[in-house]
Amino acid sequence: MATIASAGASQAVLDKINNAGLLRAKGLISGEWVSAEDGRTLPVYNPATGEFLTEVPLMGERETLSAIDSAHNAFKSWSKKTCSERSKLLRRWYELILEKKEEIAQLMTLEQGKPLKEALGEVSYGAGFIELFAEEAKRTYGDIIPSPYPDRRLLVVKQPVGVVGTITPWNFPLAMITRKVAPALAAGCTVVIKPAELTPLTALAAAELSIQAGIPPGVINVVMGDAPQIGAALLESTKVRKISFTGSTQVGKKLMAGAASTVKRLSLELGGNAPCIILDDADIEVAVKGALASKYRNSGQTCVCANRVLVQDGIYDKFAEAFIQAVSGLKVGNGLEEGVTQGPLINEAAVKKVEQHVEDALSKGAMLLAGGHRHRLGAAFYEPTVLGDATEEMLIMKEEVFGPVAPLIRFKTDEDAIRIANSTEAGLAAYLFSGSISRAWRVAEALEYGMVGWNEGVISTEVAPFGGVKQSGLGREGSKYGIDEYLEMKYICIGNMLP
Ligand code: SIN
Repeated sequence: MATIASAGASQAVLDKINNAGLLRAKGLISGEWVSAEDGRTLPVYNPATGEFLTEVPLMGERETLSAIDSAHNAFKSWSKKTCSERSKLLRRWYELILEKKEEIAQLMTLEQGKPLKEALGEVSYGAGFIELFAEEAKRTYGDIIPSPYPDRRLLVVKQPVGVVGTITPWNFPLAMITRKVAPALAAGCTVVIKPAELTPLTALAAAELSIQAGIPPGVINVVMGDAPQIGAALLESTKVRKISFTGSTQVGKKLMAGAASTVKRLSLELGGNAPCIILDDADIEVAVKGALASKYRNSGQTCVCANRVLVQDGIYDKFAEAFIQAVSGLKVGNGLEEGVTQGPLINEAAVKKVEQHVEDALSKGAMLLAGGHRHRLGAAFYEPTVLGDATEEMLIMKEEVFGPVAPLIRFKTDEDAIRIANSTEAGLAAYLFSGSISRAWRVAEALEYGMVGWNEGVISTEVAPFGGVKQSGLGREGSKYGIDEYLEMKYICIGNMLP
């Protein structure tokens, strides 16, 4: 069990999680909780208070190779289980996560910082993928193809890809894992999970519950520590048949290049640069609510957060006024405190990036309409910020800010909005607000994005396909389509069928 050195504000919460048997600060290989072979560790901190929470093993190539072997051995029996056997085990895992919803959410807030209400939402969202794919396990139908030959029958069957390496980010410590692992397991694959080193504890708690659910040893393995070494071991192994990654476009491109040597399948959910278009016939209240939810969810640290708010000339002043008013109602603080809507950013480096974007925008003529500085609570906190009169030359319009800053940019015509929205290499999520069905439909169709929210700022749900186009990635996660990423199609031609 983990050593907990912190005697500060996080202690009571950690004790509760420890008592629930969910503080598992080790790697998981072949069903055993293990340390790094050389005993090295990595600290995990609470971003809200800076407190040390615990330490986890700093693993590398050797442990990853063991985890791959473990997954490879487990694949032999897991892939042979019936779909209903796999479905029942996944269902039990889902139920156990929901039974421990409070503890997992608190652990998530401790290590990631998001407000407890959002963490509870993520536990339901994350568990939802397991529930969904427990059902989809039974629906991996094949095909019978009408045969052009009298003596042959043509069939397609779906089979699991094999061992899958999943590499996941810190912004959604549970949901980004279950979104990959649940369809992989449902399809009959086994996994090596590499959670983010900043937020490994939620992943380990979920892994513990998978054991309690009866998912056999080796089906789920968890390693963390030296990300480049772990990534290289996963990429180079011929036993690993697929990598599923959520994270930056820069790392995604490296993985894509690395996967070439063994021709691995890839799912990539990479960065976005979401436009949020407010047309002049939008309902202001709906647009403000949607833009606020999209922009400031998880303190602006999601790949689908509105990054650029495009507002049509005729509605700009009214929208800006109402938006600033709504932003002033956000409450910054420690996510465990009642009423807090904005937690810290993940670390000070994230705050520095936000500061750089804001400085750049102000130096190029943006107006500061709200916030614009760190919060008195500490180095990881940044005030929800609104910038007016942003222009396309600003850094913040070109790159994801990944923080609580909304730049407002004016546009004149729908065509201008579409051009600005599409003038990026990213293509994950876009939002548009309009009261006219035909106008909004036309704009939605013209947006080069994998997902569009129309009069809605929070579009993520386990039952809809999540993913991007252009440099935002490959493949779709969640929904009935998500399991296809973990299945191979096999064509079987049966000959000599003449009576
Ligand atoms: C992400 O930021 O990558 C995921 C966001 C979501 O699932 O809503």
